[in-house]
Amino acid sequence: MPDSLVFPYYPINDFGPAMKGMVIGGLGIFHVFLAQFAIGGGLLMCYLEWLSQCGKSPDARRFVDNFFKLLVLISFVVGALTGVGMWFTSIQVSPRTIGLMVGEFHWIWAIEWTFFCLEIVSGYAFYRYGERLDDRSRLRLLAVYSLAAWFSLFWINGILSWQLTPGSWVETRNVWSGFFNSSFWPSLIFRTIVSMTIAALVACVVINTMGALDRAARTVLINQSARLLTPMLAMPLLGLWYFASIPADSRAWALGANVPMMMFLVLSIGMSLMIGLYAVFGLIRQKLYVNGATATLLCSLAFAATAGGEFVREGVRKPFTIRETLYSNSIRRGEVEALREKGSVTDDPYPLRHADALPSDQLRLGAKVFRFQCSVCHTLDGANALVHLAGAWSTEQKRVNIARLQRTKTFMPPFAGNPEECEALVQYLEWVVADSPTTWPVSDDRAVLARIQQGLQEAGTQPGEMFTHPARRESR
Ligand code: HEC
Repeated sequence: MPDSLVFPYYPINDFGPAMKGMVIGGLGIFHVFLAQFAIGGGLLMCYLEWLSQCGKSPDARRFVDNFFKLLVLISFVVGALTGVGMWFTSIQVSPRTIGLMVGEFHWIWAIEWTFFCLEIVSGYAFYRYGERLDDRSRLRLLAVYSLAAWFSLFWINGILSWQLTPGSWVETRNVWSGFFNSSFWPSLIFRTIVSMTIAALVACVVINTMGALDRAARTVLINQSARLLTPMLAMPLLGLWYFASIPADSRAWALGANVPMMMFLVLSIGMSLMIGLYAVFGLIRQKLYVNGATATLLCSLAFAATAGGEFVREGVRKPFTIRETLYSNSIRRGEVEALREKGSVTDDPYPLRHADALPSDQLRLGAKVFRFQCSVCHTLDGANALVHLAGAWSTEQKRVNIARLQRTKTFMPPFAGNPEECEALVQYLEWVVADSPTTWPVSDDRAVLARIQQGLQEAGTQPGEMFTHPARRESR
């Protein structure tokens, strides 16, 4: 993949008041939850089918058939749809990120996809023929299904964890050093346990819908399914291992340097803890019955915990989508310098949506700079809006803070344009704050541009303080 072509390929989409990062994050949370449900579901069914065949659970077979129908419906239909949706949105939000991910790991994706196909085929075979098969074939088919599902996690996990901890890949560009990166194992084991948790909780809901069974029989099934919650006990340790494996600055965001991220983390941990305590003391030790409403509530908690966890995982990667390599706004780390010279949108061939509504070329330039450099994380006046964040700042404050963007907030990338573009962006924000009047003076004071240039130089072209570890400064 050529290193220096930011434009000419990608058309640009706009999601209105929702910022782009949020669109993909929101969809991602649903997809991850469903995919993990499918993986844990496979393991759970293998276990219960085995119990049934050993004669330890008279109703397990009936449960497996019931559960499988739900699993197929949800994970094959909604899971696959959201999966396709992820590709669809990621190619619109950050074609360059996804391009790099595909470019570096195409064989891994191909392997992942093969396992996914196997999962679908074995799953469908079980759905269609499971009830007619003999015991051995049933168990084997379920085992194939759940191994295939788990292995698709194995492969995708390497790519996702590489985004946050690319490690020595940054220098070597070796696929395997990128794949088996420092957060690979903690993240894989953690996700496996989460999958089992989700499946066990959904099982409690499903068992409650099996009206043909009496309460005692349902309790047995619930307690057997709840055994899959036991590995949750390892979560605190795994969480610590995971945190130890990610970069120090990412850890710092989640542990307090960024308040929303820390809150999401605390909520996510809190909800997991509640599920865990209920599981260990209520379901496993006291063998309580859990009714449909409570089980649904527990599932919702698990969803919220997943959402919080994914939010933090995505958040701590800022300002990169691939750490040390590609900024969230699709500019490569090494390109900033050249774009400062040339202008970041000089080669941007895409027209603005409402270009005529803007009174001057300077504002049109500012709008393009905003679209290219800021719009993945900000909107003008919707989510994380610049009008709200910087609206009250004076013009000079805007100039100073945008020129030194990576120091204003270290989870933003450095400003990657020339002084004219920075001033155009400032004027564009001023114009929007002033409620978009039909005329607007052009600002071309040389002294202003010189001040911006000085600010840009002082800020440098590298990521903000927290990110510039001496060891990394050289590696680009
Ligand atoms: C990687 C994502 C990302 C990119 C790209 C990004 N920002 Fe930000 N920016 C953020 C986040 C997150 C905040 C914090 C919001 C908050 O504090 O609620 C922020 C805050 C700000 C603030 C408020 C800072 C303060 O001290 O209160 C301004 C102004 C701002 N951004 C401007 C910009 C401009 C202009 C661009 C484009 C040149 C840009 N940002 C690009 C993520 C980003």
